[in-house]
Amino acid sequence: MIKTKHSGAQFSDIVAIGEKLKSISRKENREFLLLHRGVNAVVNIDIKDLVNDIDFNSEKIQIYPYSIGKFGLRKAINKVYFHNSTNADNIYITNGGVNALDLIFKTLDTDEVVIPNLYWGAYINMLKISNKKYSFYSDLQNLRYNIKQLKNKTVIICDPNNPTGAKFDDDELLNTINELNNAGVVVITDSPYRRIFYDWQTDTFYKQLTDFENVIVAESFSKSVGLSGQRVGFIHSKNEEFMQELRINLLFSTNGINAFAQTLVEKLLVDERGIKAANKFRHTTAKAIKSNVNYLIDNNLLIEKFYRGSKPMGIFMLINKNVEELLRHNISSVPLSYFTQLPEANENKYARICVSVPHNQFKLYFDKMLNK
Ligand SMILES: Cc1ncc(COP(=O)(O)O)c(C=O)c1O
Repeated sequence: MIKTKHSGAQFSDIVAIGEKLKSISRKENREFLLLHRGVNAVVNIDIKDLVNDIDFNSEKIQIYPYSIGKFGLRKAINKVYFHNSTNADNIYITNGGVNALDLIFKTLDTDEVVIPNLYWGAYINMLKISNKKYSFYSDLQNLRYNIKQLKNKTVIICDPNNPTGAKFDDDELLNTINELNNAGVVVITDSPYRRIFYDWQTDTFYKQLTDFENVIVAESFSKSVGLSGQRVGFIHSKNEEFMQELRINLLFSTNGINAFAQTLVEKLLVDERGIKAANKFRHTTAKAIKSNVNYLIDNNLLIEKFYRGSKPMGIFMLINKNVEELLRHNISSVPLSYFTQLPEANENKYARICVSVPHNQFKLYFDKMLNK
């Protein structure tokens, strides 16, 4: 008889929202502005020319890739993310960000994982599957005040955050990470939205993280270059013991990451035409996001209390309209209750929207809702 081990994790409800919308759209012939999703939808990245350059008949594409990832891609990540301040051997390629986080949770021996009190739902589901305890923190000050109680625990930093899009001040963030690191607290940075907004050549954030022995970086190319379909991410850590065990877990959970996708991402990082395509995608995306965030601010739609001590910057925003009202105006969204256990979750007043869509469309739907 098949017996199932139940972790208590739940399938993504956001996928179900999409299915429901498709059905309403068909039955009632209505067009929706899709803001429930977590992907950049301002423009696609143009990769046609890059793909033509890839030799599909070569061994590099056709046989098993090296289990920790292509050396060329790890070297490119060292250059573009860490400004050559680490070693390619400290970088392992993963099957996107979820795989990176799952492997980190699997490999890390920690008492508890502490996550933001407005969090990406997948953290909790993955922690349940890995049988790890979790708790919450409100902001950076809260982490610093409670540093003694955090010993033997692991803190996740997601900045800009999902679901708020809130971005901490970099100096305060790095000072807090420094204090946590020195107190022996493990920090996982999971900030896949950051590199949409920061110039790759001048952004020294990842470089500065390499100073810290207790920091593990989880990253993804799903958002920064818009390639969620290619499933490429990476993990960086300088801790040899951790990386040796991670290497075994990575091998037996993936047997290597898709060689084509790795080649493509490498081109986006270091090939001249690739860099141009990535920059065009990022600049167009960031510009539309900024216009949409400004629209929300100008029309008093942002929930200010969730942005104290931070800046609304990311691809998601929390707004003071509920899912039903937005849906009546053909805008899809996700209820706040999917992302928090704060009391506000029960009030059905707020929703998360993705603001990474063309500004003219965004304005059109919201102007209608606001009778403008
Ligand atoms: C905060 C955060 N981390 C990581 C990811 C991982 O994305 P992927 O598995 O597509 O790389 C996501 C995706 O939505 C996310 O929101």
